[in-house]
Amino acid sequence: MTRGEQGMERIAIIGASGEVGFRLVQRLCSRYQVVAIVRRSGKRDFEGLGQIDVRVVADIDHIPALTAALDGCDAVVNAGYIWFAQSINEAMERCATPPRHVIFTGSTGIFTRLPSESAERKRLAEAYIRQHLSCRWTIIRPTMIYGHKDDRNISRLVRAVDRLRIFPLIGNGESLIQPVFIHDLVKAYEMALLNERCYDRSYNVAGGRPYSNRDLIRCAANSLGKKTFFIPVPAPLVGFAVRLLGSLRLSPISSEQVLRFQENKDIDLHPFIDEFKYVPRDFEHGIGELVHDMRRHGLLR
Ligand SMILES: NC(=O)c1ccc[n+]([C@@H]2O[C@H](COP(=O)([O-])OP(=O)(O)OC[C@H]3O[C@@H](n4cnc5c(N)ncnc54)[C@H](OP(=O)(O)O)[C@@H]3O)[C@@H](O)[C@H]2O)c1
Repeated sequence: MTRGEQGMERIAIIGASGEVGFRLVQRLCSRYQVVAIVRRSGKRDFEGLGQIDVRVVADIDHIPALTAALDGCDAVVNAGYIWFAQSINEAMERCATPPRHVIFTGSTGIFTRLPSESAERKRLAEAYIRQHLSCRWTIIRPTMIYGHKDDRNISRLVRAVDRLRIFPLIGNGESLIQPVFIHDLVKAYEMALLNERCYDRSYNVAGGRPYSNRDLIRCAANSLGKKTFFIPVPAPLVGFAVRLLGSLRLSPISSEQVLRFQENKDIDLHPFIDEFKYVPRDFEHGIGELVHDMRRHGLLR
């Protein structure tokens, strides 16, 4: 396999059917030859985007198929999970013309002080990348990602705020959160791609400023043109109810999520701004776009 034709560099995107991955395909396809790696075809419509080379790799651990998909690419963006790192590395080592740079998607969730299997798995994957990766790498660690109707995070909150006039709050709601708008995040990948300044470095990416959970919900309510009243519920009581409902498989949230809600999740954005020279939008601006998107799809009352 040769490198990209027409002088365009060839970029493989792993997890191209995912929320981040698909937006990366949309963003990069005018500038690069994009190889969209998916585990099954049909979930996304790539056709309207031009000449996207869609490759099906049924599982990332299937090294021969992954090798064939990555061979000849100049760079790889892993928009799937960071613990794919070892399989990606093994596949690259088998390529006749291996990629020069890989961007991995990590998570600021690794900074939690709570016991978390998922955070530990991500920390181990980062350690693997730092010690073993056979080419230059960059890790982009987003905070909570939002900004489209399927974001599974803030869009759920918006739906709840839309339905409820009185909103239950775990604890006092003062712990901090700093979600990042998906298009601001995707821009960072584009800037880091094949950029020597970003080689062998990790970046935390968040929204422009942190908000307390209470203020964040208030912003969502303002965007919906609603006034929301809070009922603070003591965290131990919520924990007890979640454990009880969890044992009956009826709880919509986990005990870990209850504890995470009370943990500050703000990050220092200065290293990111110094390198990337832009400030991701703050929640007050991003939420308006999300509400607009959800209204357009008839998801709000
Ligand atoms: N969403 C957040 O708030 C958030 C916050 C911090 C970090 N992150 C990280 O950001 C990354 C992307 O997030 P996202 O919201 O875009 O997630 P997503 O929509 O669930 O996308 C994940 C992608 O990985 C693919 N995938 C999963 N398991 C696979 C396997 N075994 N083999 C091959 N492909 C596999 C999925 O394929 P299918 O489409 O076929 O399922 C999908 O394309 C993830 O690494 C996540 O940990 C997310």
